[in-house]
Amino acid sequence: MAIIGTDIKEAVRWLEAGETVAIPTETVYGLAAVIFNEEAIHKVYAVKARPVSNPLIVHVAGIEKAKELTVDFPPAAEQLARAFWPGPLTLVLPKNEMVPDSITAGQPTVAIRVPDHPLTLQLLEELNKPLAAPSANPFNYISPVTALQVDQMLGNKIPYILDGGRCQRGIESTIVAFENNKVKILRPGAVTAAAIEKVLQQEVLQKKETNIAHPGMFKQHYSPLTPMMLVDEITPSLIKGKKGKVALLLFDKYSPLASENDQLLLSANSDLDEAAWNLYDCLHQLDAGGYDLIIAQNMPQEGIGAAINDRLTKAAQQ
Ligand code: TXA
Ligand code: MG
Repeated sequence: MAIIGTDIKEAVRWLEAGETVAIPTETVYGLAAVIFNEEAIHKVYAVKARPVSNPLIVHVAGIEKAKELTVDFPPAAEQLARAFWPGPLTLVLPKNEMVPDSITAGQPTVAIRVPDHPLTLQLLEELNKPLAAPSANPFNYISPVTALQVDQMLGNKIPYILDGGRCQRGIESTIVAFENNKVKILRPGAVTAAAIEKVLQQEVLQKKETNIAHPGMFKQHYSPLTPMMLVDEITPSLIKGKKGKVALLLFDKYSPLASENDQLLLSANSDLDEAAWNLYDCLHQLDAGGYDLIIAQNMPQEGIGAAINDRLTKAAQQ
């Protein structure tokens, strides 16, 4: 089993030795490796059983460090970085030769962000090297928001988990790319489209399905092992027809159609930020609850609700 601790020096030692270490961020826990160590990057893919065609996000300590890895940092990227870093926004930019192809799945671009977590920022400062870190879950499974969840999923495959408590945002970063002075959201996340538009004073595009490796490529993702379906409303016919033990994952109100013991609310206060914070934790709980089916409810499609619905849709695609 992995050691769980808060010792930054120990995390640095493992990373310098070419190992993978789980690190806390404000979004979800990441499985980190130094980007210049080919073997360590290979371990990241192996530990997650992740296809090597799916590129990794690089984490750096600040905007200057990000610029060291890119050949171009367009004005819109600069504005967004200044507005949202450290924070849950990932910028896809043209990479330079410092960034190995194994990080980017051979693409000419690299995804970069500055995570907003004191332990990981300090780790990046002390290490003074960029860290590639996908979410610290097996490929296609639910992302972890606590050190314990990382340990349960990957603890037998990694030496150290840096414990930074429960992730404050609870949902992955928003990923944006730049195309002919336009900004395009490749994956909705903790930074909303409206917040980006406010900073840039221009409309942002939403991704369409394409053939290059990006977050929309894998329809099924973030999924519990328990079968899951997604609906707008819990109706009597929905529950009646189902065999076995059914759990409900709802926004802000219990359904009278099932026992409250089998229901989880993402936010009793009808607060979408709280719902995002609870999302993966609730999915982990329900998946461990011995249910035959999870019926989840769509959130209001506003603000961070769009990102929650994106994850719920992918989790239900089994
Ligand atoms: O909040 C987050 O972003 C978390 C924390 C740990 O930072 N990380 C995370 O990583 O969600 P991961 O690997 O689970 O998702 C990264 C996504 C992948 O879907 C990948 O396709 C996309 O980023 N990506 C990476 N490099 C890319 C690139 N050059 N162009 C387009 N998409 C890229
Ligand atoms: Mg992930």
